[in-house]
Amino acid sequence: MQIGILGLGTVGTGVVELIEKNKNIIAKRLREEVHVKKVLVRDLNKQRTPLVEGKITDKFEDIIEDEEISVIVEVMGGEEPALTYIREALNRGKHVVTANKEVVAKHGKELFEISAKKDVNLLFEASVGGGIPIIRPMKQCLSANEITKIMGILNGTTNYILSQMTEKGKGFDEALKEAQMEGYAESDPTDDIKGFDAARKLAILSSIAFNTRITPDQVYTEGIDSISQSDIQYAKEMGHVIKLIAMGKKHENSVEVSVTPALLPKDHPLASVGDTFNALMAEGNAVGPVMFYGLGAGKMPTASAVVADIMETKRSNNGSKLYCTCFNHFDVMDPGQSHASFYIRLRAFDKPGVFAKIAGAFGKNQISLAQVIQKNIINGTAEIVIVTYDVPFKNLQEALCEIKTYKEQVVEVSTVIRVEGEHK
Ligand code: NAP
Ligand code: HSE
Repeated sequence: MQIGILGLGTVGTGVVELIEKNKNIIAKRLREEVHVKKVLVRDLNKQRTPLVEGKITDKFEDIIEDEEISVIVEVMGGEEPALTYIREALNRGKHVVTANKEVVAKHGKELFEISAKKDVNLLFEASVGGGIPIIRPMKQCLSANEITKIMGILNGTTNYILSQMTEKGKGFDEALKEAQMEGYAESDPTDDIKGFDAARKLAILSSIAFNTRITPDQVYTEGIDSISQSDIQYAKEMGHVIKLIAMGKKHENSVEVSVTPALLPKDHPLASVGDTFNALMAEGNAVGPVMFYGLGAGKMPTASAVVADIMETKRSNNGSKLYCTCFNHFDVMDPGQSHASFYIRLRAFDKPGVFAKIAGAFGKNQISLAQVIQKNIINGTAEIVIVTYDVPFKNLQEALCEIKTYKEQVVEVSTVIRVEGEHK
């Protein structure tokens, strides 16, 4: 099997190294050898692994026009030119393996239509959960179930940052730099920090789980950029940890999809998922709860999924391809209708009547308070942490809008985070 690789960064280099490292076992399992024939890069002058000597090009045409190359592996990232290259490869009857969640989540419908028409594979296991087998198990092993809920940690970079802040007391910027040095972060780490990367992965998983096309713009998304060391310490005092949680839920005729930070009780199955590990819990109506766990980012874990997909292009070349299964057309629920218990940290003036005023805004919006903590008095202002009972998100938004107008009482509303599994 002759393959062409688009991109030779963290993942591309891992793919080349893994094909070399495990070439014997791969050839025996596949009954065919896998050879990297050509590799596309942007900069011909960068130093590369000696494994690709004489194979590097900066022209896509050198790869796409090579008749011997039957599989194109797209690991360059970004929306363009990756989308154009994948579209062209499929149209020319070549199988495509990609780790690109942005392209799959935004343009999956079009690309799956082309792959079906041309009867070639479009495989994307590495696009969600790095090395964890999730896509094929969801599409194949759970295909007899109706899936009612998926919930997980789908971004390695933010999980690494939150874990370092929680366990080692590190600052946000220091932990982010480390994640970038290890090659976990996207080329623009805003995609990780603001939750966009997790939203793309959730869009892909929800489309598979609920058989309805979900795109990233439909996912209610909050990042971890407003989480401070104070929130992490308050969470600890309350017996919780903060995680970036992706959640998809099937309601009667709609689906709820969100990526938000959440306080999880320490005994929650996702609470102990640390560093760059990812995990996904799914609820099937026959299997019950299942959980997938493993390294969600990094060179070799991601290469593991990409190389397995390359091998899969041969196995499934006999009419057993995994085509798109989005046959439903469910609405996406308005995020305001979602229910949760919330943690709110705010700073207010430390003087009589202030708390009564704040509590009034919550009461007016039918929000009951489960817990209130006041401390850290600095220059006449106090930090107040409030945990609500389970309420509609829109009621909370209305209460907070009102509280933000209390300029004589409230300095700022610093953080709002969902609380999982309590105060129902
Ligand atoms: P990366 O380290 O930034 O590497 C990107 C590679 O693509 C580089 O070799 C770059 O060339 C090449 N490239 C980019 N734009 C190009 C263009 N216009 N023309 C030709 N070559 C171009 O990225 P990565 O971390 O390996 O990620 C690649 C993909 O895998 C992304 O879609 C990412 O989301 C996904 N992914 C990454 C991980 C991870 O842990 N890193 C895990 C799962 C999925 P130069 O070397 O010449 O700059
Ligand atoms: N930037 C991504 C992450 C890479 O941190 O999870 C894996 O998809």
